[in-house]
Amino acid sequence: MNSSPAGASVFKDIQKLSFDYVPEKLVHREPQMKRLRTLFRPVVDSNFSQNALITGSVGTGKTHLSKIFSSDLGKMAQDKGKYIEHVLVNCRQYYTEDMVLLKIISKFQPHFPDRGFSVPEKLEVLRKQIDKSKCHLLIVLDEVDALLKKSGSNLIYTFTRFDEEVPGIKASLSLILISQHDVFPLMDAASLSTFKRTNVVAMDKYNGEELKDILMERVELAFYPGAVPEDSTGLIADIASESGDARFGIELLMNSGMLADEERVEEITPEHVRLAKAETFRTITEEKLAELDKGKKVALLAIARKMKKSAYINTGDAEDSYAVVCEELGEKKRGHTQFWKYIKDLDALGFIDTKISGEGVVGKTTLISLSEIPAGQLEEILEREIGGSE
Ligand SMILES: Nc1ncnc2c1ncn2[C@@H]1O[C@H](COP(=O)(O)OP(=O)(O)OP(=O)(O)O)[C@@H](O)[C@H]1O
Ligand SMILES: [Mg+2]
Repeated sequence: MNSSPAGASVFKDIQKLSFDYVPEKLVHREPQMKRLRTLFRPVVDSNFSQNALITGSVGTGKTHLSKIFSSDLGKMAQDKGKYIEHVLVNCRQYYTEDMVLLKIISKFQPHFPDRGFSVPEKLEVLRKQIDKSKCHLLIVLDEVDALLKKSGSNLIYTFTRFDEEVPGIKASLSLILISQHDVFPLMDAASLSTFKRTNVVAMDKYNGEELKDILMERVELAFYPGAVPEDSTGLIADIASESGDARFGIELLMNSGMLADEERVEEITPEHVRLAKAETFRTITEEKLAELDKGKKVALLAIARKMKKSAYINTGDAEDSYAVVCEELGEKKRGHTQFWKYIKDLDALGFIDTKISGEGVVGKTTLISLSEIPAGQLEEILEREIGGSE
């Protein structure tokens, strides 16, 4: 393979691989786009408010679709002499009614004070702003499960009834909710009765072929011609198709490119892709581990150490190892009940797997195993994490 000159790169425009970049084209999502257009056509054509829910697992293009659709809707309206504004709120960042309303209001009034107004007062301000600007406002609540879990469904109820409170006034507010999970169980009866539950736009996981098309589009935007041979793109698509997650595919593409740059070669090879896969998993794991509280980190370190020599350990072994690790780190050793809780939590978070030992083993016990990451790597990351957090 050819070496590229010093300072050269496979990337023509790496920014096209960043998470903030939203290409105008959304490959393989025409049916969903069409359905949204159909649902919202009456908002453009007549005096109508609408609400809808977009669902689908991680990286299936929900946020991307909503961004493209919202600005398309604005343009469609403009062509018909109507004014539709939109605002997108990420409820993982803005998870209380106050925060969500403030974010929406700041669309109209960027310096609106963040204190001193109650929720009903903020709603009144919003109503006046919409009236004054003579627009119809489309509110997109992304990752809405965070808001629902933290603050309940009152705000959604209010938004879906927004126009009923002032009879005779034009339809002024529409709503799109986005979530990976089924959000209807999180909504109370009143909100469910006003939210149109059949207006669901489902985003299936992408298959390998679809991912390949999505990736090829990015390759063209971000890389020099010839830098990503088709079999490398195919391999990335195959790897990402296990989760059906386009974001993971794009991340893998970028990391593979960086490895090629490190080696100063002009082309991404399948071996770069395989290496990038291992590294990307590691980064994801590291990020998840960093978020654990110290108690769980110590418990997981104890498990990782015991696990280096065996496929399974039982909870007794894990607890013995935990005592040793606590002693070594000068950490307070928590009791059996708390340690058991750590195990349950680590299982729920996906760091370990647990199962009850089968027949033939004296006295049933819980067996622990690691699925995703080698014990040695886990140990190394955790030792660094725990050391760093003091
Ligand atoms: N069909 C597609 N065509 C082009 N790019 C896509 C497509 N689907 C997803 N992407 C890209 O993949 C990445 C993830 O998409 P997006 O953020 O919309 O996923 P999401 O469903 O909102 O995921 P999450 O549930 O994690 O929020 C983005 O960079 C997006 O631009
Ligand atoms: Mg999203």
